[in-house]
Amino acid sequence: MALELPDFPWDSLLPYRERAAAHPDGIVDLAIGSPFDPTPQVIQAALAAAGDAPGYPQTAGSAAFTAAVIGWFARRHGVTVEAANVMPTIGSKELIGLMPTLLGLGRGDVVVQPTLAYPTYAVGAAAVGATVLASDEPEDWPDETRLVWLNSPGNPDGRVLDVEFLRRAVRRARDLGAVIANDECYTELNWAGDAPTPTILDPRVIGDSRRLTLSVGSLSKSSNLAGYRAGFAAGCSDLVGELVLARKHLGLNPPAPIQAAMVAALGDDEHVQVQRERYRARRTTLIAALTTAGFRVDDSSAGLYLWVTRGEDAWATVAALADHGILGTPGTFYGPAGSQHVRIALTATDEIVGAAARRLEQLSNH
Ligand SMILES: Cc1ncc(COP(=O)(O)O)c(C=O)c1O
Repeated sequence: MALELPDFPWDSLLPYRERAAAHPDGIVDLAIGSPFDPTPQVIQAALAAAGDAPGYPQTAGSAAFTAAVIGWFARRHGVTVEAANVMPTIGSKELIGLMPTLLGLGRGDVVVQPTLAYPTYAVGAAAVGATVLASDEPEDWPDETRLVWLNSPGNPDGRVLDVEFLRRAVRRARDLGAVIANDECYTELNWAGDAPTPTILDPRVIGDSRRLTLSVGSLSKSSNLAGYRAGFAAGCSDLVGELVLARKHLGLNPPAPIQAAMVAALGDDEHVQVQRERYRARRTTLIAALTTAGFRVDDSSAGLYLWVTRGEDAWATVAALADHGILGTPGTFYGPAGSQHVRIALTATDEIVGAAARRLEQLSNH
């Protein structure tokens, strides 16, 4: 017996990793978007102060955690949520991967995901034998749809869904009786301004009811907390209640010290601003270098990646970059629509980004 899961594509990138690593000055790895700037002191201090944790943590979140999420939505999005609408997660990936399981989905049910998608939406569907449909057009979602994943800002393409599209998607999902969740883990990395990108919980999207809607958030990227596994979700109270109950039985209760760290992270906008500006500078450097080297940057208006193309097969671009010691991710990892794109992550030191820019300059001279 084994779960039937989609192929894990990263192994196919190994030869290119080796090729890039053969560069005399070493590899510039812009493939996996794992944060590396330090975890802010304010968060580390909160974690250390919460080290005495003899009792079991609450699956629904501590009172302080709940208040912090409520405060964050009010402050950053101007959106009202209440205690019954929010829950902590162990990073957002586990919730995404387990959502079809927690909702009791199975064969015959359809899970909709974006045409360019983070792979875990499909992994979660495959784990329960549900069918995955990649579609960005709500009118095309079939009657059997039970769960819709939106992702804004998007990975890999950095696309932002506007309020009008979100409203149309929510209306369609509700007509189908399907849960609709927006993965908003990059919302604070909005290059169009200091405000986060639109949330699915915006009243202009959902009207006066949160029914069937869920916003999925993460502190991994905006607070450099990927190592803590710190996430949260907010939305329809019936749905959150159902998820919390299932998670309680399964033991998916985020550790108390991590919940305390999340309280500190959600309460402090300054470190997020600092991190956003770091990424903004790296993004500016990389866009200039990529453009000079003949790449076109598509979408990428928010989030942690540049979605670039030279109008050729993605693997040819990956190979050309690897010859100059740079590792990117072929767009095909995210769906056939990515066949001519490469994803370039902004998660590297200023020094490495500088090296990438110099190498791209050489690439443009070839
Ligand atoms: C679109 C998207 N959603 C969710 C995640 C998971 O993040 P985490 O589990 O660290 O919250 C990632 C990580 O890269 C992602 O790109």
